[in-house]
Amino acid sequence: MGVDLFARCRDYDVARSARAAGVYPYYPVFAGPGAPVTELDGRSVIMCGSSDYLGLAADPRVIRAARDAADRYGTSRSGSRMLNGGTPLHAELERELAAAAGLPEALLFPTGYQANVGAIAGLTGRRDVVLVDAEAHASAYDGAGLGPGRAVRFRHNSAADLGRRLAASPGDAARLVVVDGLYSMSGDACPLPTIVETCRRYGARLLVDDAHGFGVRPLDVGGVDLLTVTFSKALASVGGAVLGPPEVLDYLRHHARPEIFSAVAPPSSVAAALAALRIGAAEPWRGERAIAGAAGLRAALGAQGHTVPAGPGPIVALPMPDLASTLAAWRGLLGAGVYVNPVVPPAARCGLRVTITAAHTDAHLDTVATAFADRVTPDPR
Ligand SMILES: Cc1ncc(COP(=O)(O)O)c(C=O)c1O
Repeated sequence: MGVDLFARCRDYDVARSARAAGVYPYYPVFAGPGAPVTELDGRSVIMCGSSDYLGLAADPRVIRAARDAADRYGTSRSGSRMLNGGTPLHAELERELAAAAGLPEALLFPTGYQANVGAIAGLTGRRDVVLVDAEAHASAYDGAGLGPGRAVRFRHNSAADLGRRLAASPGDAARLVVVDGLYSMSGDACPLPTIVETCRRYGARLLVDDAHGFGVRPLDVGGVDLLTVTFSKALASVGGAVLGPPEVLDYLRHHARPEIFSAVAPPSSVAAALAALRIGAAEPWRGERAIAGAAGLRAALGAQGHTVPAGPGPIVALPMPDLASTLAAWRGLLGAGVYVNPVVPPAARCGLRVTITAAHTDAHLDTVATAFADRVTPDPR
């Protein structure tokens, strides 16, 4: 008799004991639209965990675009784009994404996760080295792990550490550096000019995952070789894209396994992303409002005695001393009608992650700040 594969599942009791203690924070079921106010367990809560930064996921214009696309093209292409094709909407979104980002071409993927995995694993070969920022999204690491190359982690936002690691990599290896434009957990931005300069110095290619910045704040793509974006944040939908030179995207069309072996994003998702992209461009106040709301909340938390890391975007990260204080703060805020994301192990640091969208009113933001004042004790360290 071998070892029962399922034994590890029976032994895994972290989630079970958290549920029993009433502090399990995951897989909530909301009975209402995503933001800014939704319903959880029969109660109305201000949603500060969603990445619907432009506040468009419940916008009637976006909903209508999704509905019209489903009416016209059906709910699914029921296969990969390679074999069963996209629709004119897919090509239109690719053109408009490339124009918005200032890069030559875009290639859609079923999700942002798959865009990163597909681009990184699809491009790199056996002798290649993929250098990934320590705080880059899991999909960057998964892409590096899935590909046959060697994955190397460099210190978060450190061009100096990146330079050292590039210098130490074999001279005959092709190098791909992967960073996020705006970091999802800490809310800080990549120091792009110094990273670009370091990549150039060593002849490495640079991929920037701008999942959290795209559509919210401009990114200077000078020196960026490849950009990945997701539709699941500012674009109020689901899907992703890789943007870059036509020959690279054509190579990915034939080498990126998530593109070849997974179903193409449905027409309704593509239409929603296209509508949100256009609305976001026509209404720049949305991105500006989300960023200003986050800045206001950082200032309010600072005035309450919290140490809040600076950030240029709509993500407010509040470090907490440990798991117990994080879950207690999360529950306290929920009790005050404010839903935020707890960040707990296996994340490197514990804390709360608060996202602000254009749809949050001044009154919502005041309620959030008051809930923190009432329910979250500043870390005395
Ligand atoms: C930085 C970053 N990249 C990629 C992704 C994956 O995007 P998607 O939800 O479209 O798969 C996420 C999602 O949270 C993210 O935060």
